[in-house]
Order: sequence, then structure tokens, then C-alpha cells
Amino acid sequence: MGLRIVLLGAPGAGKGTQAQRIAAARKMPHVSTGDIFRDHLQRKTDLAREIEPYMESGSLVPDELTCAIVAQRLCEPDCRGGYVLDGFPRSLRQAETLERLLGERTEKLDVALDIQVSDHEIVERLTARRVCPECGAIYNLKYDPPRNGDTRCSKNGCTGTLMRRPDDTAETIRQRLLIYHETTEPIRMFYDERGLLRTVVSDNLTPEAVFVKFEEILCAMEAAGKA
Ligand code: AP5
Ligand code: MG
Repeated sequence: MGLRIVLLGAPGAGKGTQAQRIAAARKMPHVSTGDIFRDHLQRKTDLAREIEPYMESGSLVPDELTCAIVAQRLCEPDCRGGYVLDGFPRSLRQAETLERLLGERTEKLDVALDIQVSDHEIVERLTARRVCPECGAIYNLKYDPPRNGDTRCSKNGCTGTLMRRPDDTAETIRQRLLIYHETTEPIRMFYDERGLLRTVVSDNLTPEAVFVKFEEILCAMEAAGKA
């Protein structure tokens, strides 16, 4: 049985970057609520109209809707062997809902990996972020630039045209950071009280160095028979 992992951290802390690596290393699904919502926006589904104003402004999509989507996703067969949750939970209500959902299936979360980064560094990272809409690869013009100049993806055999995420504007980043500190950061305590929180301070660490630290934690858990 694989691990059930939650990744915590501010917008731009590197949740997606780490979740992709952890999921690939363990061949387990990477479940990102942000990616699920962006996929709805791209496909212009009925849900898209409802969530668009929240995403555009950097506010949280209402808990009830978000929890229903996650509950459905975690029931899919590929999640039976564990998963990496990225961007969920991000409110106390979402954390409690996840705990209840897992409890109903006599399952438990194994670990909450928490990436701490200063607000100053977050702004640096998000203004230089580029993403590939084709394969989902994440780049940074400063820290992890694409090989094919600044405009084309060079990962996963892909050549997609890189783009800036629409919510990576100065105003929206400010709003997302505000919401993180007010609503999401307190759930670190929720997981700390349950003995599940593992924090890495990432301001001066490369993505690879953060990954190595998380791997140490996860491998130790696996060796101790928690997976
Ligand atoms: P979501 O997509 O989850 O966005 P976010 O939380 O704001 O986080 P980001 O994806 O911006 O950052 P990240 O931590 O993944 O960083 P990344 O790895 O890309 O959510 C978007 C929106 O959807 C929300 O605003 C909300 O509206 C809605 N939503 C989603 N989930 C929700 C929920 N549960 N409830 C309600 N609403 C929800 O890295 C960032 C950059 O830094 C990249 O350029 C990367 O290359 C670089 N980088 C990463 N690590 C390092 C490092 N160690 N050193 C230097 N650079 C690094
Ligand atoms: Mg992300």
C-alpha cells in the first residue's frame, strides 16, 4: 500500500514541482485541485462558470464544491495505492472533511509535507514561473529555465508553447498570499497536533534539494512499514 501524502505551502512554494516528482518516483497519482479546476476552465464546463471568478481573483473556491470534487477523485481506482494531494486541503474545513472521508474508509493520511518560503521569495518565484499547457511541466525563468530558449517546453518530449498562468499577476499573487496566511496556514497546526507535519524551509534550497529532503522522510516512513 502506497503513502497518502498532502503537500502544504503558500502559492508558489513549490507544491506542484515537488508533487510531480514524488508522484513520478512512486508511480502514484498527483491530485492537484488547481489543475482540476484549470482543466474545467479550459474545457468550459458548467463548473467553469462557477469557479472562474474565484480563480481569477485568487480567492478560494467554496469548500463544499472543492471537497465534493476531491471526494469523487479519491474514489477512483488509481488512488487505491496512495496519492499525492497538492493544493488540498487549504482550509480547516477541508482538512476536517478529508479526515472524515478517509475515516469512513478506515484509511489515514500518512504525512503532510509542508514547504515554507518567505513572501518575498514567493513573489520572485511566481513572477518568473512559466508552465506548459500541453504536458503540465513547471519552469522558472530564473531558477529552472527551459532549454529551448524562453518560449518552448523541453520536458517529456514536449514542444508546447510556455505560458504565464493568468493568476500570476502582482495583484492576484498578493490576494493569494493573504488568503494563505489567513485561511490555509492555520492547518499546519491541525497536522502538527496529529504528528503528521514535516516542514522543509525552502528559501535557499533548489527544487532538487527539497525533493531529496522529502525523499528522506518518505523513504524512512516506508522502511518503518507505514506504507
Ligand atoms: P493552485 O493551482 O493550487 O495554486 P497555488 O496554491 O496558488 O499554488 P501554485 O500552483 O501557484 O504554486 P506551487 O506551490 O504549486 O508552486 P510551483 O511548483 O508551481 O490553485 C489555483 C487556484 O485554484 C486558487 O487560487 C483557488 O482559486 C483554486 N483552488 C485550488 N485548490 C483549492 C482548494 N483546495 N480550495 C479552494 N480553492 C482552490 O512553483 C512555483 C515557481 O517556483 C515555479 O516557477 C517553479 O519552477 C519555482 N520553484 C519551485 N521550487 C523552487 C525552489 N525550491 N527554488 C526556486 N524555485 C522554485
Ligand atoms: Mg501548483
